[in-house]
Amino acid sequence: MLANRTVTLIVTGGIAAYKALELVRLLRQAGARVIPVMTRAAESFVTPLSLAALAEEEVHRDLFDLTREARMGHIALSRAADLVAVVPASADFLAKMAHGLADDLASTMVLATDTPVLVAPAMNVRMWQHPATRRNLARLREDGVHVVPPEEGAMACGETGEGRLAAPEAVLAAIARLLGPKPLAGRHVIVTSGPTREPIDPVRFIANRSSGRQGAAIARALADLGADVTFVTGPAEVPPPAGVRVVPVETAAEMLAAVEEALPADAAVFAAAVADWRVRQAASSKIKKTPDGAPPTLRMIENPDILAAISRHPDMRPPLVVGFAAETDDVLGNARAKRVRKGCDWIVANDVGGTGIMGGAENEVILVTAEGEERWPRMTKEEVARRLAERIVAALERQEGGG
Ligand code: CTP
Repeated sequence: MLANRTVTLIVTGGIAAYKALELVRLLRQAGARVIPVMTRAAESFVTPLSLAALAEEEVHRDLFDLTREARMGHIALSRAADLVAVVPASADFLAKMAHGLADDLASTMVLATDTPVLVAPAMNVRMWQHPATRRNLARLREDGVHVVPPEEGAMACGETGEGRLAAPEAVLAAIARLLGPKPLAGRHVIVTSGPTREPIDPVRFIANRSSGRQGAAIARALADLGADVTFVTGPAEVPPPAGVRVVPVETAAEMLAAVEEALPADAAVFAAAVADWRVRQAASSKIKKTPDGAPPTLRMIENPDILAAISRHPDMRPPLVVGFAAETDDVLGNARAKRVRKGCDWIVANDVGGTGIMGGAENEVILVTAEGEERWPRMTKEEVARRLAERIVAALERQEGGG
């Protein structure tokens, strides 16, 4: 995954510094070369020897080590990598970075580098919440620094809250997203996501429980692999991922128009939970209760089926069309039938019957294709997204090869 890639890993002072050792192991396992750099404070928490042993590289610590400067100056050193990662990044180090201070080797290197910089902060919850830290982080983000946010949980200092260093696996995933292969570069993929909202009157609407989590994860996974993603989303609970073109919509009709507008595409993934019906004539003013207490009758008509329309598009059908099927009964049977009925290539089927999947963090899906089915184990929606993105890469490569 990270073969031939070099990461300069700056370890700053903090109890979480020991986790940097695990990160070094994971980076090495992924094929990366790691150039370790430590601040003075970090040395109180882990020894340079452990870091050097795991990285199989010498550890750089001193700005004024003339012997080393003669071999490789700190400026050259800061540019020798594809990425500079600060893990853990202490509140103090973030403050220095935000202000461009350079009074030791580590801070000088982040100031001198021209490669992407990633920070994984770790600190006490109060320091994390302090306005100064918030300010510094906002400024670093503006400067283009990638932030792997800390997690919530019990901390070494005895307090509980946000501030614990992200898991080494999560930091590795963030690094891989920045440095990994980009097999979808130059490919355009449309992703629909979230619920749609069908108005009843100016204040009421019909919608569904879709959080937009799965769709956002898919858009992100595709963008991480280099795809140019058009993300057509209804009003979702989760924010859209960075690095995609977001087209916000409300109704199914708007979603269809936005997808048509985004064509042509190399692939399209329809993860939105589109309302099947809309109120035929939404009232133009708020529907009032009547004195006789009679409830209003809503006359519904069917919405356009976006997936079916695009799968049967007369001249701009994307070479790969993927639909989702949210089912509560006979998941596989319904999904197979849906694939044929809608004319798409794949259906990602999930059982949404009372298992907390709709709106939840995990998903359990069956991938239904013309060749058969594949049952994936229960996993996070991010993992489903990554797997699906990899499958899309393989399918597009196969098509390219004429297979
Ligand atoms: N879909 C769509 N436009 C619609 C309805 C559904 O594009 N008007 C897409 C969804 O995004 C999903 C797939 O069709 O990819 C299947 O959605 P689902 O709700 O499971 O199927 P329906 O067509 O609504 O069938 P049913 O409600 O009868 O199960």
